[in-house]
Amino acid sequence: MKFFIDTGNLNEIKEAYDLGVLDGVTTNPSLMAKEGIKGNDNIRAHYKAICNIVDNNVSAEVISTEFDAIIKEGRELAKIDDKIVVKVPMIKDGVKAIKKFTSEGIRTNCTLVFSAGQAILAAKAGASYVSPFIGRLDDIGADGMDLISQIVTIYNNYGFDTEVLAASVRHTVHLLQCAEIGADVVTCPLNVITGLLKHPLTDSGLEKFLADYKKVNG
Ligand code: E4P
Repeated sequence: MKFFIDTGNLNEIKEAYDLGVLDGVTTNPSLMAKEGIKGNDNIRAHYKAICNIVDNNVSAEVISTEFDAIIKEGRELAKIDDKIVVKVPMIKDGVKAIKKFTSEGIRTNCTLVFSAGQAILAAKAGASYVSPFIGRLDDIGADGMDLISQIVTIYNNYGFDTEVLAASVRHTVHLLQCAEIGADVVTCPLNVITGLLKHPLTDSGLEKFLADYKKVNG
């Protein structure tokens, strides 16, 4: 299972990378705006800075919504670094663009996926990753985890190469459920990754070990 961090914050990316468990980064226009990154040159420089921290898989999202413009923008993003994965929204022109990028050897992440039907389209177009959004489905009273399960089953049925990248992950339980279902990748905030470290019995056990050592060694 791959861990991606879902942020544009360089310090958080570095912290997750230094932990030794990070396989990639996902960003979106909202996350870039949150970091105050604006203007095409600054946005590209920021993607490059992210690529300089991690080993691979940096999703950079297009803001174009029309086929020709998506292709132009995606090619420019792909030129920034070999680690870039072009993130394309699940819209008609997006699906066509994913097919084109795939034929050109440009990796893609199909984003804003909320149904199994959309995930089938993304896979048939040749997307490298499909991003179903768990948390946003939960927010409207649906079950985001059911969608992950459905997509994993369907992709396994037909041997699609597209990797299931569980997105909009809000807490460690989401991550663990994705792992049980067999999602290929989870992208989440730093606190979800570091949250995996925590267990009160680890803390109390360590405290006791250190206290016992001190008792006899001073
Ligand atoms: C990642 O690719 C998505 O853009 C992200 O996980 C969305 O998460 P959110 O629903 O917390 O904004």
